[in-house]
Amino acid sequence: MAKEKKGEYRDVGKIAIYPGSFDPITYGHIDIVERALEIFDKVIIAIAENAEKRSLFSVEERLQMVKTIFKDTPNVIVDSFKGLLVDYVAKTNAKVSLRGLRATSDFEYEFHMASMNRSLNTHLDTLFMMTSKDYFFVSSRTIKEVARLGGGVEGLVPDLVVRRLKEKFKLPVAKKKQIGWDD
Ligand code: PNS
Repeated sequence: MAKEKKGEYRDVGKIAIYPGSFDPITYGHIDIVERALEIFDKVIIAIAENAEKRSLFSVEERLQMVKTIFKDTPNVIVDSFKGLLVDYVAKTNAKVSLRGLRATSDFEYEFHMASMNRSLNTHLDTLFMMTSKDYFFVSSRTIKEVARLGGGVEGLVPDLVVRRLKEKFKLPVAKKKQIGWDD
């Protein structure tokens, strides 16, 4: 709530930023967004453009996929950012950065990142949500590895992402037939 005049408050809504690489987005990420929408009025999915991290999909490709997936969810905004997350957050009304936690092994990395962000901006809190049990083994990294080696990732990522992965890895026709990847 933002204070306008003495005793008057204007509800600007609760906004969470959900930053990440989303290379590619998985049902684990989508589940976090859907649950966050029960707590926040708006969720901004902020796709990081990280020159140091080699990504499979370009930022434009990731934006296109995520925008398509959330095209019917008006309180989800899809954007990308370069540089520090805290600088991006400063341009929004968000006070919370949202991250999914799959296992204790995620914790150390997340703890360092959250602590660093809080030291850069004391107004930014990181909120962790436990990934649903159906997806706690799902990560963008393993999805890419499985898809690259010809394994099926249906049910773990949206169909659109399955198609984009197939296009990226351009599996030979014989291999596609063998694993039932014919369109
Ligand atoms: O999905 P990921 O790759 O685990 O997401 C990591 C991400 C993009 C949230 C993180 O690397 C990030 O915030 N990058 C922006 C640069 C930054 O602000 N770094 C300082 C935090 S340690």
